[in-house]
Amino acid sequence: MIGATGELGRAVASILAARDGGPGGVQVRAFVRRPLPAGSPPVDEVVTGDLHDRDSLREACADVTAMFLVSSPTQDQVELETNAIEAAEAAGVERIAKVSNIPIAGLESGLHGNHRAIERRLAASSCRSTILQPSFFSSVIDKQGDVVARGAVVLPTGSGKIAWIDPSDIAAVAADALVRSDLDGPLHLTGPDALDGDDVGARLGVKRIDLPLDKWRETVVASGLDPWLADSSVHLFEAVARGALAETTDTVERVLGRPPRRVFER
Ligand SMILES: NC(=O)c1ccc[n+]([C@@H]2O[C@H](COP(=O)([O-])OP(=O)(O)OC[C@H]3O[C@@H](n4cnc5c(N)ncnc54)[C@H](OP(=O)(O)O)[C@@H]3O)[C@@H](O)[C@H]2O)c1
Repeated sequence: MIGATGELGRAVASILAARDGGPGGVQVRAFVRRPLPAGSPPVDEVVTGDLHDRDSLREACADVTAMFLVSSPTQDQVELETNAIEAAEAAGVERIAKVSNIPIAGLESGLHGNHRAIERRLAASSCRSTILQPSFFSSVIDKQGDVVARGAVVLPTGSGKIAWIDPSDIAAVAADALVRSDLDGPLHLTGPDALDGDDVGARLGVKRIDLPLDKWRETVVASGLDPWLADSSVHLFEAVARGALAETTDTVERVLGRPPRRVFER
């Protein structure tokens, strides 16, 4: 499991740990570049390494059947995830479940371009793969905890709706993709409702603020966000405002046999 210290990685590890030893139980090896924080879900084994370090990936992939692949949205994500895919291929890993995002026409560079390039690499791989293409995680609003506590939420997306998804649903689908053989290819994952910024504010019981995108970019870069990621986000928000992430799908229900969770309900 790559990304075991991250939000989705922890959630997937937790689901697999609950199955460990029981029917469908699996042995989990975490690949981490820093120790698992206290309170992390239990795993069977830890390999310390880095996606930059191909030797550490080779060690991590030995005798592995399935790889969970998630990494941070960085400029070098294609190189890093390709290192992981090549290590998996060399070790004879059967399947890879990769966290990607929803393709949007016209977004072929930046963060979206990176995910599309990794998806193309996986399509040409000897490993079978599931491409998890989730909408916005509802947990991104948690990063605005202080703002929400003061009665507001910032969503610079105009009247565009987003089919927000609870990350625990993404993790549940990923955990299934690692042990099932019927989930090859892209899975467009959404929550049950498409909500615009005002709807989100109403569910949270706070005022929604819709900043102009140049002002939003200036603010987040000043607080430390990588300008490359800020630019990718600006292009994404422009697409959201045009309705690019408003579609809901039945994929979560089809895979898990239950509807996706409702989001932003307090
Ligand atoms: N947030 C959304 O709404 C959304 C929507 C659609 C798709 N996505 C996609 O979801 C993915 C996860 O994003 P996130 O920011 O939420 O991730 P995250 O929870 O921060 O997890 C990223 C994981 O990757 C690990 N990692 C990063 N670089 C590494 C390296 N060089 N070597 C080893 N491990 C490395 C991190 O380890 P450390 O703990 O050591 O940093 C962490 O465990 C991204 O690809 C993003 O594009 C996000």
